[in-house]
Amino acid sequence: MNRIISPSLLSANFTQLIRDINLVEELGVKRLHLDVMDGHFVPNLTFGPFIIEDIRKITSCHLETHLMIENPNRYIKDYAKAGSDTIIIHHEASSDIIKDLSEIRNLGKFAGIAINPDTSYNVVEKYLNYLDYILIMSVYPGFGGQSFILDTLEKMKSIVELTKKSDIKIGVDGGVNLSTINDIYSTGIDITIIGSALYGATNIKKRYSDLINGTS
Ligand code: DX5
Ligand code: ZN
Repeated sequence: MNRIISPSLLSANFTQLIRDINLVEELGVKRLHLDVMDGHFVPNLTFGPFIIEDIRKITSCHLETHLMIENPNRYIKDYAKAGSDTIIIHHEASSDIIKDLSEIRNLGKFAGIAINPDTSYNVVEKYLNYLDYILIMSVYPGFGGQSFILDTLEKMKSIVELTKKSDIKIGVDGGVNLSTINDIYSTGIDITIIGSALYGATNIKKRYSDLINGTS
């Protein structure tokens, strides 16, 4: 199966956002990952709907918005209105997961859930009917450039098994690079999120092709 990479704009140059988005689109990227952090759920702050609205104007890529925020329910509408295609809430941050996922779908968007490295894979089981996307965190959320947590490979296999009769897509977020990517795709997951290992490369074009082909 063809590898799908969703570049994380967290590692892009925000003063050159159009350039950095065009660059990966020219390589064939069809999906972008937007990391929203609130300084509460995670110890870091990034951007909100205002920036996403502007990103929406300059790309036709599928925008997956990863909400690393407390009380996601308060903001789902804003992120939908800003132009996200998939909205991902954190299992650890939502007080009513079914309500949140249903609201995302009712707004005409794809509904996703992210689970932290220390959250068991089977928590997602009761939400399968409400989900389009599961994002397995392979680092603790909050920062780009962290090391991949090897234990999460087992979780990937379990979630692939759990979702095999459904259309749910599975993404992996954090520490994906040339050394880890082949093991990650071997588990059967669909999408990798890549920030520093792509935008941090001197030759982004070559790096993208190496990541897609599993070569170096
Ligand atoms: C971490 C974010 C990731 C991050 C990945 O909190 O959710 O999307 O940007 O960055 P890398 O690929 O550098 O680990
Ligand atoms: Zn993310």
